[in-house]
Amino acid sequence: MEYPYTLFDLRGKVAVITGAARGIGAEAARMLAAAGAKVAVLDVLEADGNATAASICADGGEAAFWKLDVASEDEVKRVFAEIAARFGGLGILVNNAGIEGTNEPTHQITLEQWQRVIDVNVTGTFLCTKHAIGHMERAGGGAIVNVSSMYGIVGGPDVPPYHASKAAVRMMAKTDALLYASKGIRANSVHPGYIRTPMLEHVARVSGQGEALFDYLAGQTPAGKVGEPRDIAAGILYLVSDAARFVTGTELVIDGGYTAR
Ligand SMILES: NC(=O)c1ccc[n+]([C@@H]2O[C@H](COP(=O)([O-])OP(=O)(O)OC[C@H]3O[C@@H](n4cnc5c(N)ncnc54)[C@H](O)[C@@H]3O)[C@@H](O)[C@H]2O)c1
Repeated sequence: MEYPYTLFDLRGKVAVITGAARGIGAEAARMLAAAGAKVAVLDVLEADGNATAASICADGGEAAFWKLDVASEDEVKRVFAEIAARFGGLGILVNNAGIEGTNEPTHQITLEQWQRVIDVNVTGTFLCTKHAIGHMERAGGGAIVNVSSMYGIVGGPDVPPYHASKAAVRMMAKTDALLYASKGIRANSVHPGYIRTPMLEHVARVSGQGEALFDYLAGQTPAGKVGEPRDIAAGILYLVSDAARFVTGTELVIDGGYTAR
């Protein structure tokens, strides 16, 4: 049977994915490239970022790596202009770069520790969106996805600046959805539950819990397991594709049922 519309076809689109050297961002880069997008892999990690872009190209996709700190406006502006020049535009932005920051209670967090998480997770999202809008207008529209967290929706008794940052990018997607809807630019957020990535593996290591942390998190999740990067990448693919052309300002929770309770 043939369906008359091609829903997940990104051929002819240019996608910028921040924090794409590894984890969820790297998987989203692979998935969007497989759907036909030209993918700009952005990250502070040069070796991993180059490896992600190279593996996409080796598999027949089109990708290139740029070293970029999302918290630096000069870098964001310059790199986005380079991407648009090299790939012929810029129509998709996935604001995925993020750090978890120090795990201390609020009264023990220094201003510097607070500020670094906000700089990367919130200001980085602001700067990348700010410098993508003009390119999207020239492309006749666009799609932005802010990678938030289930902790942008429900509370958790740890990492205070992280949770604050994830709630902020959730609302920033709604504001941008309203500001730019008339220009054909959509903005949405995705809200991962526990996903096995280098970020969570780092938490498992520094907390001394190791594999027991993943068993614990699986037990906390109604689906009975921790998710994988492809579970989140699939939501990102949906939101940036034509399948979601009437979807803007919404939040897609992918958490194995954690927030359903
Ligand atoms: N893993 C989870 O359980 C989980 C759950 C909810 C939300 N998230 C969110 O998903 C996103 C991806 O997380 P992940 O688990 O893949 O983490 P990760 O640490 O594996 O990957 C994050 C990437 O962002 C990059 N990065 C960090 N600071 C940067 C900066 N200033 N500029 C550019 N790149 C930078 C890192 O180098 C890394 O490659 C994050 O925003 C995270 O908060 C993850």
